[in-house]
Amino acid sequence: MKIVSVFHPLFQCASFVVGVYNARMGLTRKGFTYQRHLRFGLLYYGMAALGLIGGWLIHESLEEAGIRLDMGPHLEVALLLILFFLLAGGLGLLIRYRPTLRTALLPIHKYLNLASLVLFVYQGFTGFSALLRFMLS
Ligand code: HEM
Ligand code: HEM
Repeated sequence: MKIVSVFHPLFQCASFVVGVYNARMGLTRKGFTYQRHLRFGLLYYGMAALGLIGGWLIHESLEEAGIRLDMGPHLEVALLLILFFLLAGGLGLLIRYRPTLRTALLPIHKYLNLASLVLFVYQGFTGFSALLRFMLS
């Protein structure tokens, strides 16, 4: 059981790395092409969403075994992240296909995505502290 509960955190760490990579590409424009940025953006959103399902499955199996971890608002922040992904990704597509909106929408796209990475760190904080307490119990 303890081993299984490590998969979700490790997978989400990998999603975070992909997100940071894409943010760096956007901010520095190094190696930036729209197709490349879109591909890594979708990979980041897709991996994080898949990881969310994984986290929920682990939560269910832990609860079946009578184990309840104190995760703070981990679930609520996870749902907020999905909202950020939908908004930021949608804006990214709008910027691409309605170039007249670029000046107004690009900062929102940028800050929503960067905020998602900050929330990710917060998820790591609530997740790893609960996991550590569980591992040591
Ligand atoms: C569906 C996924 C995404 C789409 C369609 C998309 C689209 C775009 C587009 C069209 C631009 C403007 C390029 C230009 O005309 O200069 C852009 C810039 C940018 N994107 Fe994305 N993006 C996506 C995901 C992401 C993700 C996941 C991140 C970060 C985690 C990110 C961070 C940035 C940043 C930092 C910029 C530069 C902003 C600036 O120069 O002020 N994007 N994106
Ligand atoms: C590296 C960062 C993360 C760590 C260490 C972590 C850790 C954990 C752990 C240990 C659990 C199982 C605890 C339990 O509920 O019984 C869990 C559950 C969960 N995680 Fe994460 N997590 C991380 C990132 C994320 C992210 C980014 C998301 C969302 C995109 C997410 C979504 C969830 C969800 C939805 C659950 C189920 C919670 C519930 O149903 O109450 N996690 N996480």
